[in-house]
Amino acid sequence: MSYQSIFRPDLFAGQTIIVTGGGSGIGRATAHELASLGAHVVVSGRTLERLTAVRQEITGAGGEATAVVCNIREEEQVQALFERVLAERGAVHGLVNNAGGQFLSPAEGISKKGFTAVVETNLTGTFLMCREAYNHFMGEHGGVIVNMLMENWRGFPGMAHSAAARAGVENLTKTLAVEWARSGVRVNAIAPGLIESSGLDKYPEIVRQTLIPQVVQDIPFKRMGTESEVAAVITFLLSPAAAYISGETIKIDGASSLWRKTWEIEDHKNAPTPYNGFE
Ligand code: ADE
Repeated sequence: MSYQSIFRPDLFAGQTIIVTGGGSGIGRATAHELASLGAHVVVSGRTLERLTAVRQEITGAGGEATAVVCNIREEEQVQALFERVLAERGAVHGLVNNAGGQFLSPAEGISKKGFTAVVETNLTGTFLMCREAYNHFMGEHGGVIVNMLMENWRGFPGMAHSAAARAGVENLTKTLAVEWARSGVRVNAIAPGLIESSGLDKYPEIVRQTLIPQVVQDIPFKRMGTESEVAAVITFLLSPAAAYISGETIKIDGASSLWRKTWEIEDHKNAPTPYNGFE
């Protein structure tokens, strides 16, 4: 199974790039694309079996990969990941902070524990990965980081925790881009809309069968995006073609952020009484 990238086959030759959440979905596709372009990909995540399967897929296609278990919520595990990669590879040229997770719930039903867990994974975990990448290697040698957001430009009803965390990551991306420019580190983010990815399997049947087809109708492109369409943007941002881009977010959403109706609001009379200063 060789990956058909549109980029130059030796684009990342000699580079080591970490992809978190690399065991499935967008992370897996990205790992495949980067390996097909000559990178040694460190596929990281929580489940060794999945990581090993992706490593085997990559090596079977003639690429190079290592599988390393790491829960990005655990500071010691993040530090251990970088220590191991530096010991084995001597460098970390790129980091794709793809790992994340959330669950659907109206905001009023999210417990403190659930909210905190999502923030710890999506925001704090991403921060820890960025910090350790910088302190272990990129601060001295430069490098490229791509963070994962989601298209939440109008809020994200049903995912208050993740939307808030991702908004935090967007701002973190801007801050790091400025703070670390002096070290030759670029930090960007991507914001996928609805992507036909294995990540969708986690949602209940009703969501997949009913809600998602409705949402697709509200996407100007009238289809979901593909994992490869996301991986290609990550690849571009990691590449020298993006050498003058930092602190930026690229949406990959079929223009859905510009036109959307994903949250039915029943007819009601509870809007605040109209204000008129002349009355
Ligand atoms: N994917 C989802 N949650 C994760 C976590 N906490 N660490 C690594 N990969 C993840």
